[in-house]
Amino acid sequence: MKVIVTGGTGYIGSHTIVDLLENNFDVVCVDNLSRSKKYTLVEIEKISGKKINFYQIDLCDKQAVLDLFSEHNDAVGVIHFAALKSVPESVENPLLYYTNNIDSLLNVLLAIQQFSIPNFVFSSSCSVYGNAEQLPVTEQTPIKNAESPYAHTKQIGEDIIRNFANTNPRINSILLRYFNPIGAHPSALIGEIPIDQPNNLVPYITQTAIGKLPQLTVFGNDYPTRDGSNIRDYIHVCDIAHAHTLALNFLIDKKNTSNCDVFNLGSGNGVSVLEVIQAFEKATLQKLNYTIGARRAGDVVAVYADNTKAAKQLNWQCKYNLEDAMQSAWNWELKMQELF
Ligand code: NAD
Ligand code: WQD
Repeated sequence: MKVIVTGGTGYIGSHTIVDLLENNFDVVCVDNLSRSKKYTLVEIEKISGKKINFYQIDLCDKQAVLDLFSEHNDAVGVIHFAALKSVPESVENPLLYYTNNIDSLLNVLLAIQQFSIPNFVFSSSCSVYGNAEQLPVTEQTPIKNAESPYAHTKQIGEDIIRNFANTNPRINSILLRYFNPIGAHPSALIGEIPIDQPNNLVPYITQTAIGKLPQLTVFGNDYPTRDGSNIRDYIHVCDIAHAHTLALNFLIDKKNTSNCDVFNLGSGNGVSVLEVIQAFEKATLQKLNYTIGARRAGDVVAVYADNTKAAKQLNWQCKYNLEDAMQSAWNWELKMQELF
């Protein structure tokens, strides 16, 4: 069974391709390489022992997308990862984010419709919940105002797919709302390759530990949480990746009751920033140079998932814990030192 994976050379896409190949899917990988490297393809091939069919295409180019889908109109599904994902960059350059993330989605949906591709999985984000009032967050938790243009592109994307599903009853979609993906493949052959400065906590930690950055600043220890630092739901990228294979099989096996369903992908555990640092130090035996700084604008106090729906319906369970994730993130940082 063939699946088209957009954004496949990126962080989550590359781990998902490995999981799909392990589960006997054939993969067509599409990416414009704007935020990833072709190098990743070679490493995916090393891990899987399989060759990847890769197309360097900008998904905002409608004709290129239609040509690709015309060539692969026998695909059983599409997993759409491709998007720009930096919250601060989206605040600085909102039009870039709206154009890239929405135009690419519209072109992919148009092609899915034109070639009657039956199944679609979309990368959404916990950021669609905004400042959620209720914890843990379930799929029914009301969607609040987006905190950034990036988050808004995910809310709009979900709305577009819901409308699309209404008028295309034979096409089945799943929206997967990821919480905070971290870590890397256990082989340390693939992982997140931050472009310039990292955006997220874990690459900040590993880059500080290896000496690329002088110090980590914990953004606030005066929040109303157990140790004063923010709480998030960190989840190993390989667990996120496997959920895509399960979601696709769920649709292929026609187990869905709605043609546009939504699932939270989080570990279900709320973990503080200081606890993440402790887990890193324990797993890797590295001492981290960190200091407590001011709160970061726009940070919510705490957010974590209720993942019951994915566990029950997709039969999804996390295989990795926080320390596994920190160890794998560190192994990948060490590997990147050799590579780049
Ligand atoms: P990533 O930046 O590593 O991967 C995204 C890939 O999409 C990159 O390889 C990039 O080159 C490609 N891309 C972007 N625009 C494109 C276009 N117009 N045409 C073709 N390719 C294009 O990001 P990731 O962390 O792997 O995220 C994957 C998806 O998951 C994104 O949609 C992101 O918004 C979503 N998401 C990520 C996180 C996270 O923390 N990593 C959390 C929630 C949701
Ligand atoms: C995690 C925690 C920071 C860096 C983002 C996006 C969200 C989603 C997931 C895509 C926070 C603290 C961080 C540092 C710190 N992505 N921190 N010092 O903000 O939860 O979510 O990624 O959809 O949309 O907003 O992730 O990794 O930036 O921060 O103390 O140097 O680490 O304050 O509490 P965040 P993050």
